Amino acid sequence: MAVVAIVGGQWGDEGKGKVIDLLAEKARMVARFSGGDNAGHTVINPYGEFKLHLVPSGIFSPQVTCIIGNGVVINPASLLKEIDDLQNHGVDTSHLVISDRAHLIMPYHTLLDGLEEERRKQKALGTTRRGIGPAFSDKVARLGIRAGDLLNKDIFLSHLKSALEFKNAILTKVYQVSPLSLEEIYEQYCHYGERLAPFIRETSSIIHEALIKEWLILLEGAQGTLLDPDFGTYPYVTSSSPLAGAGAIGTGISPMAIDRVLGVFKAYITRVGGGPMPTELKDEVGKLIREKAHEYGATTGRPRRCGWFDAVAGRFSSQVNGFSDIALTHLDIYDSFSSIKICTAYEFNGRTLNYFPSDSSILGKCQPIYEELPGWQESTAEIRDFGKLPPQARRYMARLEELLSCRISLVSIGPRREQMIQVRSIL
Ligand code: IMP
Repeated sequence: MAVVAIVGGQWGDEGKGKVIDLLAEKARMVARFSGGDNAGHTVINPYGEFKLHLVPSGIFSPQVTCIIGNGVVINPASLLKEIDDLQNHGVDTSHLVISDRAHLIMPYHTLLDGLEEERRKQKALGTTRRGIGPAFSDKVARLGIRAGDLLNKDIFLSHLKSALEFKNAILTKVYQVSPLSLEEIYEQYCHYGERLAPFIRETSSIIHEALIKEWLILLEGAQGTLLDPDFGTYPYVTSSSPLAGAGAIGTGISPMAIDRVLGVFKAYITRVGGGPMPTELKDEVGKLIREKAHEYGATTGRPRRCGWFDAVAGRFSSQVNGFSDIALTHLDIYDSFSSIKICTAYEFNGRTLNYFPSDSSILGKCQPIYEELPGWQESTAEIRDFGKLPPQARRYMARLEELLSCRISLVSIGPRREQMIQVRSIL
C-alpha cells in the first residue's frame, strides 16, 4: 500500500479531520505527527459530531491503529477528556497508542502561554493559550517531560523538580505571580500517568512494522503550512512544523517512505489569531462566508477571519510540501455566490509580487490582485459525481489546479462523510 501525508495548505482549519476520517476507512494506521491540543479536527460521522484535538481522526475505524506520534505535545487532561468523550459515544479507543517520546504540556506551559501573550500587549500572537509554544520551547531547551516519563514515578519526579524550580523562578521573579506546587502537579500527573500507561509505547517500531506489512498509513498533520515556524508568517506562527516533511520526523519514519502528499485547502481561506492575511474580507462577503461555513475556532470558539482563495500563498504551500494531490473542501459555501475571486499576485509598493514574502511586515502591506470567475448559484450538496458539478464550479477548480500546479483529487461539498467527491484515487 502506501504512506500518505495529509497536510493543511493554508492557516489551518481546512477540514483535514473530515478527509482523514474518510480515507481511514481503507487505512490500517493513522499517525498524528505535530501540534497539540491547539488543533481541532471536526469529524461528523454515524457516531456523532466530534472535535478531536489530539486523538487521530482515524479512531472511528476499528481496524486502524491510531498513533499520537513523538512530534506531538500532549496535555494529558485534555487527552483523557477526549478519550472519555469518545468512549461515552460508543467509540472503541483500545487501538490508540501514544509515543513515549511525545512531550507533555505541563501546568506552567499553559500559564506561561497566557502570561507571555499578555506581556506582548498589542503585539500578541493570538495563540490558543494551550501552552503549545512553551512546551515546544522546553523540548528544544532540553527541559521537557515526556509521556514515557510518566511510567516511572522517580524519573518523573526528578524531571519535574528541575523544570519546576526554573519555571517557578520565572513565574515569581519575571511575572510576579505565585509559584506552582510541586506536590500538586506530581500527584495530578501520577494520576494521569496511571490512566494513560496502557496507551504509552515506543511507536516508531510499531510504524516500522506497519511499513514492512505495506499497510496504508496516513500521517495526520495539524494546523497549516502558513503557520509553520520556518515558512509561515513568522512570528505569527505555531511552534511545530505542519509541513509534510515533519510527517517523517514526527513519527520516526524515513522521508523516503512517504509516497503521497495530500494538501487540504478550503475553497476560500481563513485565519484565526494575529498576523497578515492579504485576502481578508472585512466586509459583508467575509461575514457571509463566516456565517455560512460557521467559521468559529473548534478549539477556542474565536471567529475566524475569512477571505478569497490566495493562490500566491497556495502555490508557495504546494512548493514547500510537494503536494501530489489536493483535497478542496467547503466548495458548497460558494453555492449562492454570483462571482468568486482568486488572488493571483500581490501588489507591493507599486510592484507586482508573484511570490509569498518571508517578511510579515511586507506581506501585511501587500494588496491582492484578483481574477474574477462566475459563480454557479445552485446547490451542490447532493451531487456525488464530479461530472455533475456545475460547469462554473469545475472551471473554478480547474483554475486553482493551474495556479497551484497540482490536481484536485477530492472535493467536499458539505460536512458529512458522504459529501466528499473522489475525482480520482490518490493512491
Ligand atoms: P499556538 O499554536 O496556540 O501557539 O498559536 C499560534 C498561532 O497558530 C495562533 O495564530 C493560533 O490561532 C494559530 N493556530 C494554532 N492552532 C491552530 C489550528 O488548529 N487552526 C488554526 N489556527 C491555529
